[in-house]
Amino acid sequence: MSDIVISPSILSADFAELGEEIRRIDKAGADWIHVDVMDGHFVPNLTFGPPIIKKLRPHTDKPFDVHLMIAPVDPYIDAFADAGANILTVHPEAGPHLHRTIQSIRAKGMKPGIALNPGTPAEIIDPLIDDIDLILVMSVNPGFGGQSFIDSQLRKIEKLRKRIDETGRDIILEVDGGLNTETAPKAISAGVTAIVAGSAVFKGGPDHYADNIAALRP
Ligand code: DX5
Ligand code: ZN
Repeated sequence: MSDIVISPSILSADFAELGEEIRRIDKAGADWIHVDVMDGHFVPNLTFGPPIIKKLRPHTDKPFDVHLMIAPVDPYIDAFADAGANILTVHPEAGPHLHRTIQSIRAKGMKPGIALNPGTPAEIIDPLIDDIDLILVMSVNPGFGGQSFIDSQLRKIEKLRKRIDETGRDIILEVDGGLNTETAPKAISAGVTAIVAGSAVFKGGPDHYADNIAALRP
């Protein structure tokens, strides 16, 4: 067992049987379940919100790694906590009071994360690095699964790895978008400790989930 967390994104699952799909990836060796929430406003796509996440919660004991691509975030923090989110990751561009948002997420008992779009600089996390548990580097522009990994984000991962090591805190460095057996090793060498993968995990159907997850581990 490697120390790298694999967090399959259910964006690539069969939405008509999400509960069953979560049980399948749990059994296939997923460490976390990555849940992409999109509002058709912050990103040009729509998925689902807290009521569906709450219904999915009993299908696994694995942590729900919830990635919010919505604006605003603050009015919904209680609902995501109530739905059973364990990690709640937000984009800095989603609202003007990022520190307050992070504090509210922690106050509700969840681990706060900050997600960086490909065009968002690493330095934006500096003032809040002592307050967060996870940094999510987007290696595609958020909104859709199945896009190609943007190589320039590897430099950002290296920079964040150094910055995290300086803190001495165990902040998870996660990468999301275009991860597969070719790009995951590059991201791991650059310093990530958690990998999100949608299409690479769900490709080929349920019989392949275990092999697909294992293939992403170093
Ligand atoms: C994109 C989402 C990702 C997406 C990744 O906005 O945040 O989590 O599901 O999909 P793949 O692995 O197919 O790039
Ligand atoms: Zn995501």
